[in-house]
Amino acid sequence: MKRIHVLEESVAARIAAGEVVASPAAAVKELAENSLDAGADSITVEIVEGGKELIRVTDNGSGIHEEDMELAVAKHATSKIAVASDLAAVSTLGFRGEALFSLAACSRLTISSRPADSLSGCVLRVNGGGRPNLSFAGLPEGTTVRAESLFYNIPARRKFLKSTAQEAAKVGGVITKMILGNPAVSFKYINNGKIVYQSPGSGKLTDALATVYGSEITQNIVEVNCVHENISVTGLVSQPSFLHKSANNIYFFLNGRPIQSNALKDALLAGYGERILHSHFPLCALTLVMPYEYADVNVHPGKLQVLFYHENDVKDAVKTAVAGALAQSSPPSLGIKAETSYPDSADDRPLEEDTAQHAAGNLPRLNTADRLYRPVRAVGESAGYLMDAMIYPTNIFENTLDAIIEQDIVNNEAEQTELKDVRDLCDFTVIGQVFETYILCECGQALYLIDQHAAHERLNYERMKAALEEGKGTAQQLLLPVVKKFLSHEFSVLGQNESTLLAMGFELEEFGPLCYKFTALPVAVDSAGVHKLIDEIIHELSQDKNDIVLNRDRVIRAACRYSIKAGDRLSDGEIKELMAEIAGMEAIPTCPHGRPVAIAITKTELEKGFKRTV
Ligand SMILES: Nc1ncnc2c1ncn2[C@@H]1O[C@H](COP(=O)(O)OP(=O)(O)O)[C@@H](O)[C@H]1O
Ligand SMILES: [Mg+2]
Repeated sequence: MKRIHVLEESVAARIAAGEVVASPAAAVKELAENSLDAGADSITVEIVEGGKELIRVTDNGSGIHEEDMELAVAKHATSKIAVASDLAAVSTLGFRGEALFSLAACSRLTISSRPADSLSGCVLRVNGGGRPNLSFAGLPEGTTVRAESLFYNIPARRKFLKSTAQEAAKVGGVITKMILGNPAVSFKYINNGKIVYQSPGSGKLTDALATVYGSEITQNIVEVNCVHENISVTGLVSQPSFLHKSANNIYFFLNGRPIQSNALKDALLAGYGERILHSHFPLCALTLVMPYEYADVNVHPGKLQVLFYHENDVKDAVKTAVAGALAQSSPPSLGIKAETSYPDSADDRPLEEDTAQHAAGNLPRLNTADRLYRPVRAVGESAGYLMDAMIYPTNIFENTLDAIIEQDIVNNEAEQTELKDVRDLCDFTVIGQVFETYILCECGQALYLIDQHAAHERLNYERMKAALEEGKGTAQQLLLPVVKKFLSHEFSVLGQNESTLLAMGFELEEFGPLCYKFTALPVAVDSAGVHKLIDEIIHELSQDKNDIVLNRDRVIRAACRYSIKAGDRLSDGEIKELMAEIAGMEAIPTCPHGRPVAIAITKTELEKGFKRTV
């Protein structure tokens, strides 16, 4: 073993640098926060190659004095706090004096700055923690920080940077938060020479939101403005009818600082209460203002985590503010009876039909049918997206439903005499169709109910998969091309999966900053739901970006969800055709999302139900 020695300062600096600016996104965050701390109201962020080659942040803030230039890149050098007691009430975004020091240690850094009261400006250059070089230059008021070749001198770190698209997506996420957290500041974000976002800096959160999400968003939001016990909560949340399947669009700001907090997210959802479905999330940009000493932001170098000293008060404030705003803007209930959370055990799950049966006079319950498949969602009466969300179980990709069904089958084995598999359907008699949704069919010793939509989905799934495997999905042209604007991470997800989508029969191309134009869809897809389908695909592809095979499967599943609607009256011929296809199916008799294609009630169970046998 070698003897212990203290690391050379430049080596220690490089190691530490990787902690503060672990990625281009972290560097952009630090630099833009410096600009905000300097009072800038116009900030331009430019990156090249995901920030790996160049990060440049320009502002019109207070600038750095000539005498302070070298200090700015020194360790623990800051103008923002002076003594330990200042830590108790930090009002600026930065205070640790680490960002410029770190960037100086791990990139080729240039800082150009001129304060308003200086006639000329200074340029400071530092390469990889070497000696800073200062020169003078005529400069506009404000500061520009340029960090080139991030981690060029720490190969191990550089190797761990993600792909250009992934790093750019993370930078886009940082800028999104900056824009939403500072509506009075005009941000311009340029990625590889293209303007991605340009916010007006009007001071209105709606304008900031429209910059990121497109102007249509303004029709789907509710204003929140409430003061509760010294804590003010202001901002915008989406209407309960405008939900996302991921919590990625929830933004909280504390005294101007973006923060992450599960406690606040829970409080937000509690504010929505029964208006929101399980596994669905609103869009939210809420700013909390409270006395600085109510929270500690010095928990982590990233300064994203916050410790609230009065967490319950803060949660109450958010919940009350959101609930109040929603109550004013929409009727108290949308008629959704859905549970806001699932009990863990399958047997604890509420059975909607139980209630219905009680109401109808305690009719005995048929065993197998409801055990084979219980609706996970309650039935609501609202329209649009929410309705779709209720028709399909949302936890479909975790296979929990399959597991529950299997478990139930096992649990009931003793009671089930001869439960038939849909694949055994060979010599069947079609009885008819009920509710324009289910096909009734007799086969052997059982009565089958087949969900025609689930069956179509399954068949389309198999067809699309086969087409994709052969690499020739058939396209149907859209009458009107659909142009959609995406968030930067969504945009890069689409880019990465473009070839899969093209092979499936989608036709799409980049169409301006963060926009894609769709001109055709796979032939089996119902074009009426194109917007939702695209959202769904993005959601699926955002789960785990690296697994190509899994991604293909997710896209197909999303696509066939929009195949053919329930509620179509089928002719006898069509029913026969569908049934024959189902009977010929090799795969498991569930739709691609885990809902069963068919349920069976055996003759024995019917007889038990009618008390013909015990
Ligand atoms: N864009 C800027 N405009 C004006 N001053 C700046 C800017 N960026 C950095 N500085 C100055 O450099 C100092 C060091 O910055 P930094 O390393 O980020 O530490 P911190 O922000 O924690 O103080 C800041 O305290 C500030 O005085
Ligand atoms: Mg800083």
